[in-house]
Amino acid sequence: MKTTTSLLILSLLLCFSVYGQNATNEVINTILNGYSVRAYSSEPVSDQDIELIIDCGVKAPSARNTQDWKFTVIKNQDLVGQIVHNATPGNVVIIISGPESAERGMSVNFDCALATENMFIAAQSLGLGARIYTGPIGDVNAKKPDFQIPEGYRAVAALRIGHLDKTVDAVSAASSRKAKAGLVNVVE
Ligand SMILES: Cc1cc2nc3c(=O)[nH]c(=O)nc-3n(C[C@H](O)[C@H](O)[C@H](O)COP(=O)(O)O)c2cc1C
Repeated sequence: MKTTTSLLILSLLLCFSVYGQNATNEVINTILNGYSVRAYSSEPVSDQDIELIIDCGVKAPSARNTQDWKFTVIKNQDLVGQIVHNATPGNVVIIISGPESAERGMSVNFDCALATENMFIAAQSLGLGARIYTGPIGDVNAKKPDFQIPEGYRAVAALRIGHLDKTVDAVSAASSRKAKAGLVNVVE
């Protein structure tokens, strides 16, 4: 009986310490509570927030540290609407581009994806909403001069950023995930 009680207390302490770490770790919390936002308010995104988000994109790792990416910040609402058809006024889109001339085997898409994800998480960490888009990328690349994509580059992804519509419940807005048990195998 005494052993059972001790084990119970030990398990509770272990659980508490694991959850305690998560509860105080801002990065873990941002990732675990984040989702791809569709509903925004029309409050404009500040230039200061955009700067910080871009800083996080620039900080992303890249294969052989090539950092072969460009970030095009679209604030013009007509152009934003051409990328995201149901855009809310105040949304900003960052187009992440990589070199057109990349040789086979170069990790352009992978590197751009890492920069995109860094900025996606940064936006959420700043209390903003964000959503990654690749659906409209073909259209963006068909009209590169309109979006001022730098010469020699092609768009890889677009990141929509805006202020959250506070009436939306974040828990029910988030998509479900597959069960971890079916995704992980451990080799010992
Ligand atoms: C590479 C990539 C491309 C995506 N393209 C689109 C897109 O074109 N349109 C769209 O509505 N959402 C797009 N998404 C958002 C995903 O649908 C979303 O992240 C996924 O359903 C998970 O939702 P959650 O983040 O809310 O859990 C894209 C996400 C990624 C990572």
